[in-house]
Amino acid sequence: MKTDSPNYDDAIVRKFAGVTVLWAAVGMLVGVIIALQLAWWPANLGLPWTTFGRLRPLHTNAVIFAFAGNALFAGIYWSMQRLLKVRMFNDTLSAIHFWGWQFIIVLAAVTLPLGLTAGKEYAELIWPIDILIALVWVAFAVNFFGTIAVRKVSHLYVSIWFYMSMIITITMLHVTNSLALPVSALKAYSIFPGMTDALVQWWYGHNAVGFLLTTPFLGLMYYFLPRASGRPVYSYRLSIIHFWALVFLYIWAGPHHLLYSALPDWAQTLGMVFSVMLIAPSWGGMLNGLLTLRGAWDRLRTDPILKFFVVGVTFYGMSTFEGPMMSIRAVNSLSHYTDWTIGHVHSGALGWVGMVTFGMLYWLFPRAWHKKLYSEDLATAHFWLATIGIVLYVVAMWVAGVTQGLMWRDVNADGLLEYPNFVDTVTRLLPFYWIRVIGGLMYLVGVLIMAFNFIKTANGTTDANLEVANG
Ligand code: HEM
Ligand code: HEM
Repeated sequence: MKTDSPNYDDAIVRKFAGVTVLWAAVGMLVGVIIALQLAWWPANLGLPWTTFGRLRPLHTNAVIFAFAGNALFAGIYWSMQRLLKVRMFNDTLSAIHFWGWQFIIVLAAVTLPLGLTAGKEYAELIWPIDILIALVWVAFAVNFFGTIAVRKVSHLYVSIWFYMSMIITITMLHVTNSLALPVSALKAYSIFPGMTDALVQWWYGHNAVGFLLTTPFLGLMYYFLPRASGRPVYSYRLSIIHFWALVFLYIWAGPHHLLYSALPDWAQTLGMVFSVMLIAPSWGGMLNGLLTLRGAWDRLRTDPILKFFVVGVTFYGMSTFEGPMMSIRAVNSLSHYTDWTIGHVHSGALGWVGMVTFGMLYWLFPRAWHKKLYSEDLATAHFWLATIGIVLYVVAMWVAGVTQGLMWRDVNADGLLEYPNFVDTVTRLLPFYWIRVIGGLMYLVGVLIMAFNFIKTANGTTDANLEVANG
């Protein structure tokens, strides 16, 4: 037995980490394809299965649930065993979780291009798959809480709390938002009527961002950043305040997706106020992450892992500043429906979720495989491609979004719309859509370089030092 890992199940971590890289490549390839379709319509290929409307949900499902989801599971299975000093509660549940989740992803990849959809954003999958998701999620939850029950240390480190909030909240959101009456094997109608349905959907949609793309990634940040930098968390007390304030505020902010809609005014205002308050815990957390690097800043020049983390945490700060601003009615009246939202989404997705995941994977892969990383230079090349790619993507969308918003509201001296035809804006935005294609392509090439680096790493020679560092 290895001296470092007292019987930990690292095989499951290797599996989740491996498929994370695979699905990253697939999901982002589809992202580049749909970006191309918006810039150059013949890329729709004239086939129903390959049109933008069908590939877009394939992209969002692949990057959120396959790439980000598997990355979270890899990080959680690795860190929780070490934090609690115990093997995962049950290997069969771990296997059900892994294979069940991949099966769901394959079902999504088949049904979405076929046009089988529930029609709710980020909850597109049809009802039989929704039931499967609930079952697999329960297997994960039992395994997670079982591990906590049999733990060998009494203290629950803050990362575990962040993970826990994800498991509990996603269960509640997924079950409630998926409540529907099936009318056939492939079709069901939501049990909620009209506006209530919209409110439940955006309560789900916003908190899917909050409790899948934010809180568990913060848990990973609090575990992996101190390890990668060799520095303790700047303020453990702040991390606890960060956790409780964030989970308390996040859950109320969903109505900011429904400003100027038929939702009662008071509910819209509630969503707006809670969104603006969210800036406080978010920035507290960002600063806690960045200040953890005190005394290790010099390593930023040479260590690609720290580079990924620092850019990731910085984008967390930027998107959580931008989000509260966009929640203010006056700002939202300009940004809503425009590419500004898409820019915001990808500064969070490519900047925060993507970069933190890459940093974690570069740290995790050598340790989980007990091999030295094949090439630090390739990791650094990945970092620069990704960073420049994000900047191109996000800046292009900000400019496109504001242009679009201003053109839509522009009136001439007679009070008539200056640009009455939607296509007027579309043609104006084309250059920015091409810049996005280039930025997205750079980001994708970075991911492919990472995949190559990891394949070479896994086939390389065993590094005894890493085995010791494993504990
Ligand atoms: C190579 C990288 C990527 C490219 C080129 C890309 C491209 C795109 C495009 C073109 C859209 C549709 C925009 C529209 O409808 O106007 C989109 C939507 C979206 N993407 Fe990406 N994407 C990438 C990576 C990611 C990643 C890593 C994530 C999440 C972790 C992500 C999450 C989303 C989400 C949530 C939406 C829907 C946004 C909304 O409805 O407001 N994307 N992406
Ligand atoms: C304090 C934190 C945040 C707040 C208050 C916030 C607020 C907002 C607002 C106001 C919108 C536009 C709604 C609309 O006009 O339709 C939006 C959209 C979105 N945000 Fe954020 N945001 C925050 C952080 C983040 C982060 C960190 C991510 C990603 C990791 C993210 C992902 C998204 C996505 C995916 C959408 C598009 C939803 C859709 O229409 O499909 N947000 N956010």
